[in-house]
Parts: sequence; C-alpha cells; structure tokens
Amino acid sequence: MYKLTIISVFIISALITMSSGGCGGNDPEMGIGPVKEVKIDPVIDQNLVAKGKATFEVKCATCHRVDEKLVGPALKDVTKRRKPEWIMNMILNPVQMVQENMIAKTLSMSGQYPTPMTFQNVTQDDARAILEFFRNNDK
Ligand code: HEC
Repeated sequence: MYKLTIISVFIISALITMSSGGCGGNDPEMGIGPVKEVKIDPVIDQNLVAKGKATFEVKCATCHRVDEKLVGPALKDVTKRRKPEWIMNMILNPVQMVQENMIAKTLSMSGQYPTPMTFQNVTQDDARAILEFFRNNDK
C-alpha cells in the first residue's frame, strides 16, 4: 500500500511536469509575450499597412531594412518564416524572446547580429500594424 502511494505520487507529479512545460503548450513558433492569437484576414488592410510603415520608419529602420541586413536581419519574407504571433511577440518582448525562445535565441547566437534588439516602446496595436506592413511586403 505504501509503495503504491509512492508510485502514484511519482506518476502524478510526472504528469503535472509534462503538462506545464516540456511537451504541449509553450510552442516555440508562437513566441513568448502578450500575443496568444492574431486574427488574420486574407485581404490586406492598406490603412493598417500605412500606419505600420510609418511606425517602422521611426522605430525600426535604425536597425532594419526590408531587403538587406543591417544591425538586424532583413525583414523580407519574415511572415513566411515566422508565425504572426511570434512576430508580434518579438516586437513587444524582444529581450525575453532572445533569452528564452529557441528560434530568437538561435538567431541571436548566430553571430551575425552582435547588437541585440531592444523594446521600442510600441503598443500592441502598433505591432499589429507593423505585421500588416510585413504581410504587404511579402505578398
Ligand atoms: C537596436 C537595433 C534594433 C531595433 C531598433 C529593432 N530591431 Fe528587430 N532585430 C534586431 C536584431 C539584432 C535582431 C536579431 C535578434 C537579436 O539578436 O536580438 C532582430 C530581430 C527582429 C525580428 C526577427 C527577424 C527574423 O528573421 O526572424 C523581427 C520581426 C524584428 N526584429 C522586428 C523589429 C521591429 C518591427 C522593430 C521596430 C519596432 C525592430 N525590430 C527594432 C535589432 C533591432
């Protein structure tokens, strides 16, 4: 009876560990941050593209170009290699992403980008508009 209790406690704690991290949940392709789900309309919203482009030019163009690598990666086709949630979480939470998200970490450790990305004081709406700007570049 005593042994059985020990064994079941062991199994239950193993199950809890598995469900709270390791397997399931915590999908690296979604990134880490406030964005859990983005609704994407197949038709690109050109008002949002214009807003995103304006913000990008002020807050991101110091380090990024669409077509060439600068301080950070070229952002052409970023919507083809990353999920929308990942892109928005990278914009809103770059420091933690680079520390804890496997994909961002790999990018940062590639040695190509010695100066890491920092948070640019953008809102979630700004990040959504920038995502639309990227979608328009990649269509
Ligand atoms: C100080 C320079 C800097 C600024 C400013 C900056 N970034 Fe970055 N960005 C980087 C670097 C460097 C990386 C690569 C990851 C790392 O090492 O931090 C990166 C990575 C990214 C990625 C992932 C690219 C990929 O190929 O997966 C996206 C998307 C991105 N940045 C978008 C933005 C947006 C949008 C802004 C403006 C709100 C911005 N960045 C501002 C330097 C910057």
